[in-house]
Amino acid sequence: MSTPNQPIKDVYDLHIGGEWVSSTDNERFDTVNPATEKPLAKVTAAKAADVDRAVQAARAAFPTWRDTSPDERGRIIYRIGQLVREHRDELALLESRDQGKPISQAESDIEGAARYFEYYAGAADKLEGTSVPVGPDQVDFTVREPYGVSAQITPWNFPANLFARGVAPALVAGNTTVVKPAEQTPLSSLRLVELCAEAGVPDGAINVITGFGDPAGEALSSHPDVDTITFTGSVTTGQTIMKQAADNITPVTLELGGKNPAIVFPDADLEQAADWITKAIFTNAGQVCSAADRVLVHKEIHDELVERLVDHASSYDVGPGSDDPDMGPLASEEQLGKVTQYIELGRKSNATIATGGNTLDREGYFVEPTVFTDVENNMRIAQEEIFGPVLTVIPFADKSEALELANDIDYGLVAGVFTSNVSRAHRFAQRLEAGNVYINKWFGDTNQTPFGGYKASGIGREKGLEAFDSYLQTKNIAVNLTDDSGGDLPGA
Ligand code: NAI
Ligand code: MG
Repeated sequence: MSTPNQPIKDVYDLHIGGEWVSSTDNERFDTVNPATEKPLAKVTAAKAADVDRAVQAARAAFPTWRDTSPDERGRIIYRIGQLVREHRDELALLESRDQGKPISQAESDIEGAARYFEYYAGAADKLEGTSVPVGPDQVDFTVREPYGVSAQITPWNFPANLFARGVAPALVAGNTTVVKPAEQTPLSSLRLVELCAEAGVPDGAINVITGFGDPAGEALSSHPDVDTITFTGSVTTGQTIMKQAADNITPVTLELGGKNPAIVFPDADLEQAADWITKAIFTNAGQVCSAADRVLVHKEIHDELVERLVDHASSYDVGPGSDDPDMGPLASEEQLGKVTQYIELGRKSNATIATGGNTLDREGYFVEPTVFTDVENNMRIAQEEIFGPVLTVIPFADKSEALELANDIDYGLVAGVFTSNVSRAHRFAQRLEAGNVYINKWFGDTNQTPFGGYKASGIGREKGLEAFDSYLQTKNIAVNLTDDSGGDLPGA
């Protein structure tokens, strides 16, 4: 077992080709503890030339990793999962300090990260193709082959967990990777890459470059030697990445957040609904793409539900992640600025603050759990992703209005329905424009279930076996069994 208090290094280099290497110009920046606003460590600001070195290292490592037998690949990836489990406390503490989240939430993230490695490891020797019946004169079959170099650009809300979500299936499928963690939260990725090496991942199969979106992220997503890109983050950055990828015809998997409706009917268990919804909006201080941001509630039970939501929200204890409170700080000063601006915007648009709405008078980027009522669905606080502990409550008159409001949004990541009426639950599940629908619960997806957005919430699916579609391309092979030549024409 590792000690949780493994010291954080003062300075971190880039991890390229199995080694710690300094960047071309040695520029560094601080990563900050958002509970104290104090620097934790200095991290390297990679430039285009460093990104190029990392991509070349991944390219060089690709043929050997691709040709490593699937069961051996699976064993190595499984060992990563075990090492992540053994180092859970250390990784959770590191994540909590760098990102801000309560330690128990960080532990849950790390266990989830271990599970990704374990889950995908078991699939390594089961990535089968198909045989296609084309008649007796030909054998036709498909094989699923890795793309090559997979770029992973991750955000700051679940840094270690999302490292695992992308790297595990990418590697299991036989790709090599270059990971660029978010500049706010690089430390867990820099530790994970060491554990991956300890598990037996060959040099160059995982490279970690730290740095900013511009230039490091852009150099990675526009690199002609990157074969597939996985990105989680904002819509605007997703659009930029997609445009850059277009120049090289590089496929993208994009997970771009949401503004997710939680629909509550009078026949729901209101206490349970309030409990799920508050967890779903205040976990990780609301910095969750699948948070329950918009409560749509039948007007008959509006006041009763709001009372319960306010009871829950106002009982939250907020503090540094290391004290394991109900809610920690926001991850960065920038995010604090964004969230407080949205709270101000809500006030100005005449929505009512039922509870919260203030920052805490102390060091760190803390905001109270906040509930807005008197919200209309066309207000910006109801349409835009706040990514903070801010819940908006909107009443509806009947089920058709509920569905209309739920879908009247650019996003389509997740949605939830709270009702005891089974047929209504299924009707809504059919008609909600979202990649994931929860009935009488929230965060219902696991490592095993596909996850991704409709509409502006993204392209492709992560998690589950479907994630392999981002990391494997199909090759069809046709074999002539006859002595004939020249019979077939294209398009026939
Ligand atoms: P962002 O989308 O700009 O950053 C995410 C990652 O993309 C980081 O690693 C960043 O360095 C990288 N990046 C930034 N610009 C890039 C570029 N041009 N090319 C390649 N990579 C680039 O998000 P940001 O600015 O940190 O947060 C803004 C908002 O985005 C948040 O308030 C939230 O609404 C949303 N967001 C959504 C997330 C989700 O889970 N879907 C996660 C993080 C942010
Ligand atoms: Mg930090």
